[in-house]
Amino acid sequence: MTEKKRIFSGMQPTGILTLGNYLGAMRNWVALQDEYDCVYCVVDLHSLTVRHEAAELRKRRMSLLAQYIACGIDPEKSIVFMQSHVPAHAELTWVLSCYTYMGELNRMTQFKEKAGRHQDNINAGLFTYPVLMAADILLYQSDLVPVGDDQKQHLEITRDIAKRFNGVYGDVFTIPDPYIPKVGARIMSLQEPESKMSKSDENQNAFISLLDAPETIIRKFKRAVTDSDAVVRYDEKTKPGISNLMSIYSSVTGKSLEQIQQEFEGKGYGDFKMTVGEAVAETLKPIQERYQELMTSKDYLRDVLKKGAEDANRIAARTLGKVYKKIGLV
Ligand code: TYM
Repeated sequence: MTEKKRIFSGMQPTGILTLGNYLGAMRNWVALQDEYDCVYCVVDLHSLTVRHEAAELRKRRMSLLAQYIACGIDPEKSIVFMQSHVPAHAELTWVLSCYTYMGELNRMTQFKEKAGRHQDNINAGLFTYPVLMAADILLYQSDLVPVGDDQKQHLEITRDIAKRFNGVYGDVFTIPDPYIPKVGARIMSLQEPESKMSKSDENQNAFISLLDAPETIIRKFKRAVTDSDAVVRYDEKTKPGISNLMSIYSSVTGKSLEQIQQEFEGKGYGDFKMTVGEAVAETLKPIQERYQELMTSKDYLRDVLKKGAEDANRIAARTLGKVYKKIGLV
């Protein structure tokens, strides 16, 4: 029997997921569950780089777990766990940070962008964030990491750190590959289609939350910023708004961009926006129903986390043990 390849990925508990998180990453997480040995993490330690309230984080962690399951992650098939329940993540981070160069971390565009947004709190954790992410991935000897386009650079540094470590100590870590969808890897803001859709956007109309009511979803799409050209055609440079809506529609219906262009030939943007909004609302409806049910089943969610922590700890401890032995800590 050949062993299944390992998948690892995580999301930060910083709020309700957006359509970007769903189409860029979560849908692939769900789709890959049968074919791979999957490990999915609520990365609560990562979310500490931005100031937060304890009670709020406690709620968001459970809510994100419920969102994972509502989207289709099956704890019977995949390991689902909370990052802070597995101490090896923090332990391996320290070791790997001694094999990571300041210059490498300095080049991270997400650090530069986040440091720009939180000028009053440019903490060391924000800077070493990619090392924690490398530890997450490498602890599970992951082959593939399904993420959106914005995490590509973090995957590259993870590979560099792993290769450097292996270069000194032999084959300790599996070198992971990113798994990025062809359509939907970078869903853009509905209000400023030149920027990424983000749950931390102050403008509520800029993003679709997984839990937005159908009327809200349709209203947000109706208000989406487009151009005055009135032709549904894909061109990221000159028509970023329409191109983004086409990617979203393609992603939720499986239709190609050419098919979409034909479908809306001679029709106005009003019709197109309405159709996209309805398709998204339809996709999210069953997820929302399942989420509401799960949030009333706290005991079930706690059981999932307990089992997930046991399984994850077992794998992570094996890798950490190997690392400690190689570097002389055993
Ligand atoms: P996070 O929590 O910001 O985002 C979770 C996932 O959603 C994807 N994503 C998007 N995809 C398409 N369009 C968008 N607008 C969009 N916004 C977000 C992200 O690419 C990501 O896949 N550092 C990570 C979390 C993390 C992680 C890991 C991921 C920590 N450790 C180990 C993989 C493996 C992050 O902040 O994702």
